[in-house]
Amino acid sequence: MSLTDKKIIVTGGPTREWLDPVRFLSNPSTGKMGAAIADAAFEKSNNVVFIHGSIDSSLVEKKKYRSVSVETTDDMLNAVLTELEDNSILVMAAAPADYTAKSISKEKMKKTGDNLTIEMKRTPDILKNVYDYGKTNNLNIFTVGFAAETNDVENYAKGKLISKKLNMICLNDVSAEGTGFAVDTNSIIIFKKNGDKIEFPILSKKETAINIIGEIIKDLDSI
Ligand code: CTP
Repeated sequence: MSLTDKKIIVTGGPTREWLDPVRFLSNPSTGKMGAAIADAAFEKSNNVVFIHGSIDSSLVEKKKYRSVSVETTDDMLNAVLTELEDNSILVMAAAPADYTAKSISKEKMKKTGDNLTIEMKRTPDILKNVYDYGKTNNLNIFTVGFAAETNDVENYAKGKLISKKLNMICLNDVSAEGTGFAVDTNSIIIFKKNGDKIEFPILSKKETAINIIGEIIKDLDSI
């Protein structure tokens, strides 16, 4: 199937959850994988949008597709829902923060005792919200998730494929060498809804991205 007429929404990078005006919680995601997927998607479709958290500006400069910068997981959810349309493809390569402060201090928090306890609450699960939104609005959305795991990696990835009702999940064993955050290579295993398992060797993030887009095309062809 040709992706020329399909909208492809790609997310990448971390989100930030603020604690006070000068501090936030985040994670080491660089957005390189997401940016590489957006680039590979744009080779196949002229309707690509890259929704990203705080990442190096070189990853979004001089691109011919749109990019949308967001800060928190809530912002990313809203940006994704705004972009969704019938027959779109969503690739969630972002690493959204799972918790946010229960209340954000308006003033800079001052040091008090030796220990600090911050009460946190869950952020929304973007992929689960997308599934519900698609169902409510009768939209056909092809969803691809990522699972960055350190242990029991295949079981966790397959569990997320099912619980988030995805078409495909890309497992990233972040404890292995040459894969994971802040490196230019990646090695992924793709699990598909139909039970297929495809293993890729350590490749550049660019080659990995091309393979992911290739697997999406194969899957759409078989529907
Ligand atoms: N994800 C999401 N919304 C969140 C957190 C994660 O949509 N609030 C997406 C990620 O972009 C990724 C997939 O869900 O595509 C799996 O993310 P991961 O962090 O591995 O899983 P979590 O669901 O956050 O579970 P856990 O952190 O407990 O492993």
